[in-house]
Amino acid sequence: MKNHEWKKSVVYQIYPKSFKDTTGNGVGDIRGITSKLDYINNLGADFIWLCPIYKSPMRDNGYDISDYMAINELYGDMDDFVELLEEAHKRGIKIMMDLVLNHTSSEHKWFKEAKSSKENKYRDYYIWRDKPNDIQSIFGGSAWAFDESTNQYYFHLFDKTQPDLNWENPVVIKEIYQMINFWIEKGVDGFRFDVIDLLGKEIDKKIVENGPTLHKIIHSLNENTFGGKHIMTVGETWGATIEEAIKYSDPKRKELNMVFQFEHITLDWGKYGKWTPKKITAQELRDVLKKWQLGLKDKGWNSLFLCNHDLPRIVSRWGDDEKYHAESAKMLAILIHMQQGTPFIYQGEEIGMTNVRYNELSKYEDVEIHSSYKDLVLDSGKMTKDEFMDGVYKMGRDNARTPMQWDDGLNAGFSISKNTWLPVNPNYKYINVANSLQNKESIFYTYKELIYLRKHSCYSQTIINGEYEPILLEYKDIIGYRRKDSNYNIDIIANFSKNTIKVDYLVEDKKLLLNNYKGIDLDEKSILLMPFQALVLAY
Ligand code: GLC
Repeated sequence: MKNHEWKKSVVYQIYPKSFKDTTGNGVGDIRGITSKLDYINNLGADFIWLCPIYKSPMRDNGYDISDYMAINELYGDMDDFVELLEEAHKRGIKIMMDLVLNHTSSEHKWFKEAKSSKENKYRDYYIWRDKPNDIQSIFGGSAWAFDESTNQYYFHLFDKTQPDLNWENPVVIKEIYQMINFWIEKGVDGFRFDVIDLLGKEIDKKIVENGPTLHKIIHSLNENTFGGKHIMTVGETWGATIEEAIKYSDPKRKELNMVFQFEHITLDWGKYGKWTPKKITAQELRDVLKKWQLGLKDKGWNSLFLCNHDLPRIVSRWGDDEKYHAESAKMLAILIHMQQGTPFIYQGEEIGMTNVRYNELSKYEDVEIHSSYKDLVLDSGKMTKDEFMDGVYKMGRDNARTPMQWDDGLNAGFSISKNTWLPVNPNYKYINVANSLQNKESIFYTYKELIYLRKHSCYSQTIINGEYEPILLEYKDIIGYRRKDSNYNIDIIANFSKNTIKVDYLVEDKKLLLNNYKGIDLDEKSILLMPFQALVLAY
């Protein structure tokens, strides 16, 4: 995107399946999104990242695409999409599409053809070998599936219904360029690139992430599609180091505007990854935030996020979704949004939606939950079922995918269907948009204020471009930092714990921009921070 506009944007992520159903089939749809544009406008976000809406058998809820240039019938049709685009644009909201380039669905025409014979012209669109090596699928088990009819194995880093495309084949790459240009011509304003760091893989050498051809591939994508156009881009990179992130996001290299890196958000992963979470400390989080803020300064650009459709709800994870629900949700929002970078808000985060707990495994829909259960419990016996379920309650992806809670009516106002595709979280009776809008002290208004400060206040430039400096390092449960430029200093002080903490800090005549409690307990020399209290002070 030109003119550094991405630096000023705030993105709202929508998981279409769970956002708003207008047809009564228990599944969200495009018209549902259009009907809620005023809500997003009210919040103040100026970009929507739309999770995949392409034709798909929905084994991985759209991350398994069977036609890149057609709309999923479950969600509507191309007219609905064009209407969404137009209505969004009327309100000054831009639309970012989700591009899944690492793999297609096994239902894609290319794969069906490829599978039909070794000689088929689509065979080389995918990755085939006579013998598998020991690369593991990210969803558990081997990354190779045997195709009986042609007597070879195909490679799939995700589910076996998500075969990886062969990025060494120039014909595939050309097809992808054409597809991306098709959406650019339709008028979309941005792209989120799914698992982009897997494209340069060298399978025989067992290199999966950050492969040798990765940046060349991305640079060519840029040159042949979105480069030089009014398009914002972000890549999903679970394996990005600072050095990698700079390569992607240094404007001179003409790759992407920014990436999602996951170092902060995987700090609490344990022995078996997300399924065995451990406690995170304020110091660990503070160090990683600092590392990325300083690491990309003037060299690249950060994305800022705590939630998405693959992550549990942050208020349940690092906050307290009972006793300090509003306080901790607001503290986490303040902590993340006042940094340098482009903030991403995931649907429901702005009202403090929480994790869910279904009592049976069969109630869960997520393909990752079921394949990891097979791998970790049934096949390898590494975890007991109870241990695994505990992991699902804390970290499973369906926590983020329960229907959006609009009001306290039937199915939280999400759908009039008897059965929604995933059961609504029972706490919709009090955690919902209608309540949040009515209550001026709600989490929603903290998000709204954060967006306002970033985009429209006199502090805007300081928040977008100001220096970043950690402060209050001597307090083990406090995360503090200062943003500053020649006009302002802005101090962010967050209590990342349930303890009450006395902090030596002079409030004096500093202007209090945000406080997630009604007042501040202070004397001339210090402040007493309440559990999860967060303050933003400017001077
Ligand atoms: C990304 C998506 C996730 C999906 C996976 C495979 O990580 O965010 O939802 O399952 O890629 O496409």
